[in-house]
Amino acid sequence: MSDPAEAERLLGDGQERRKVRRDLCAVCFMAALIVGAVIGLAAVWASLANVETLPKRNVILMISDGFGPTSQTFARTYNQHVNKLKYNYVSPLDEILVGSSRTRSSSSLVTDSAAGATAFACALKSYNGAIGVNSKKVPCGTVLESAKYLGLTTGLVVTSRITHATPASFSAHVVNRDMEADIAAQQIGDNPLGRQVDLMFGGGRCYFLPNHTEGSCRIDQRDLVKESNKQGYKHFATRKEFDDLEPGKDKLPLLGLFTLDHMSYEIDRDPAQEPSLKEMSEKALKFLDSATAKSDKGFFLMIEGSRIDMAAHSNDPATHVHDILAYHETIELVKKYVDEHPDTVMISVSDHETGGISLARQVSSDYPEYLWLPEILTRVKNSSFILSQGLVQYWNVDRENFIKNSIINYGLGIDNVKDYEINWLKEERDQLEYEYYLANMTSIRAQIGWTTHGHTAVDVNLYAYGKDIEYLRGNHENIDIGDYIVDYLNLDLDTITSKLNNSNFHQASDSTHFHADEHHPHTHI
Ligand SMILES: *[C@@H]1O[C@H](CO)[C@@H](O)[C@H](O)[C@H]1NC(C)=O
Ligand SMILES: *[C@@H]1O[C@H](CO)[C@@H](O)[C@H](O)[C@H]1NC(C)=O
Ligand SMILES: *[C@@H]1O[C@H](CO)[C@@H](O)[C@H](O)[C@H]1NC(C)=O
Ligand SMILES: *[C@@H]1O[C@H](CO)[C@@H](O)[C@H](O)[C@H]1NC(C)=O
Repeated sequence: MSDPAEAERLLGDGQERRKVRRDLCAVCFMAALIVGAVIGLAAVWASLANVETLPKRNVILMISDGFGPTSQTFARTYNQHVNKLKYNYVSPLDEILVGSSRTRSSSSLVTDSAAGATAFACALKSYNGAIGVNSKKVPCGTVLESAKYLGLTTGLVVTSRITHATPASFSAHVVNRDMEADIAAQQIGDNPLGRQVDLMFGGGRCYFLPNHTEGSCRIDQRDLVKESNKQGYKHFATRKEFDDLEPGKDKLPLLGLFTLDHMSYEIDRDPAQEPSLKEMSEKALKFLDSATAKSDKGFFLMIEGSRIDMAAHSNDPATHVHDILAYHETIELVKKYVDEHPDTVMISVSDHETGGISLARQVSSDYPEYLWLPEILTRVKNSSFILSQGLVQYWNVDRENFIKNSIINYGLGIDNVKDYEINWLKEERDQLEYEYYLANMTSIRAQIGWTTHGHTAVDVNLYAYGKDIEYLRGNHENIDIGDYIVDYLNLDLDTITSKLNNSNFHQASDSTHFHADEHHPHTHI
């Protein structure tokens, strides 16, 4: 990187770039004044008044983790097949496509979810693994924190561990995404700014339980459930408690952690145990709406379809598509909310693509014949992840029957299994090897291709819904989305950054409790 201006944009703390946008806005404002002068003094007065008192506004940022343009085509065509929809069916996302987002981080052409989310949260490029810190590892103020500082109500709704990279980047500041025990503590208010998040729904309870208690994955004795109560949180973990929550009788802050690890994939989810992404989002909107009803300040809510990405890492097409369709349903819900609340903007974007999925294959070379067989995927009942757990556990003498019947015929819905496939699965192997193998058995039959178990560099689709979304049209850097939220809510990230910096917080967050956890191995997804 020889050009210093280029280096500043990619590696700097974001101030340089934001100044550029403010200058641009000053130009717009001057232009508006001149036009105003032509129309009359009254109009000038109105436009000035407008600038000074920003109306009550809400932002709902939806993140589809690991979801590229091909996955959108995949989900649409799958849905068309299953529900016999017309060829020109338009999905809830297709209706609101506005542009695309470029995803590179400061350290790599291919971002991870930590740098990807930090780009949205802090409006600056940082390195892969960075959680709410800039490329020099200094904590950066996030849109969530700045919103809270200005009196807005805040929420995070995810299907991963709440301590996972995406939600963490809005609500914590650590130099490495694996420091999830520290992230959990910061999220409930153990940070220089105090409690920032008014509502958290997701998984990851294991990081809130003290070491040596059942289900814990902490290496220290901190009981963050107890500490969260001291910070005012009502903590709950069951479907029943979730269902019983009502804005009339329960108050923010809320901490709902439904599983120890990630919440289930949609294809595996037991609705009696875990709410869906849509249900969690609906409840969150109810609470945020009610909490801000009598206020002149709105809310900031981040909703993540977290596990779309993980299924793509496993190259498991049926699991991938079910999590995408659950995300589509959530988009529909949020669009309805925006319709009823025109002071709200919804943005939907991915941090990056995952899996390098390709849809359909040319199956003959003389006359090109193309196939993509969604029917194969409609028969799949379980994620390859859950089925691979069965394969590592089941060693009874009838293992072969178990593989044929429970795993392949019932679980994958495959009735033309090959002998070499059964023989491969009979051998003792790592769970991840089984998982990839099972996922490939459905991919190959459905004619879906994958190029990687990691992320790719492709631009992702950018969707938006509501008034004042013109700026988002076209091709953007991911950090522009952070800038847009800053402008829309009139936030000031630099104030938060200097509050974080003054407390010497960055030194503290560098080394404490680093714990690469063996119970929840991270593949940096
Ligand atoms: C408890 O802490 C010890 C180290 O202090 C660690 O080896 C162990 O894995 C921890 N337990 C869990 C469940 O994480
Ligand atoms: C697979 O899915 C079926 C149908 O939903 C369910 O009854 C079964 O328990 C699942 N299997 C596993 C191993 O989770
Ligand atoms: C997927 O399965 C096909 C058919 O068994 C095999 O040829 C191919 O190598 C497998 N691909 C991967 C990535 O395992
Ligand atoms: C943060 O504080 C350090 C000194 O502790 C200073 O060197 C650095 O420039 C500050 N960074 C920001 C972004 O304010």
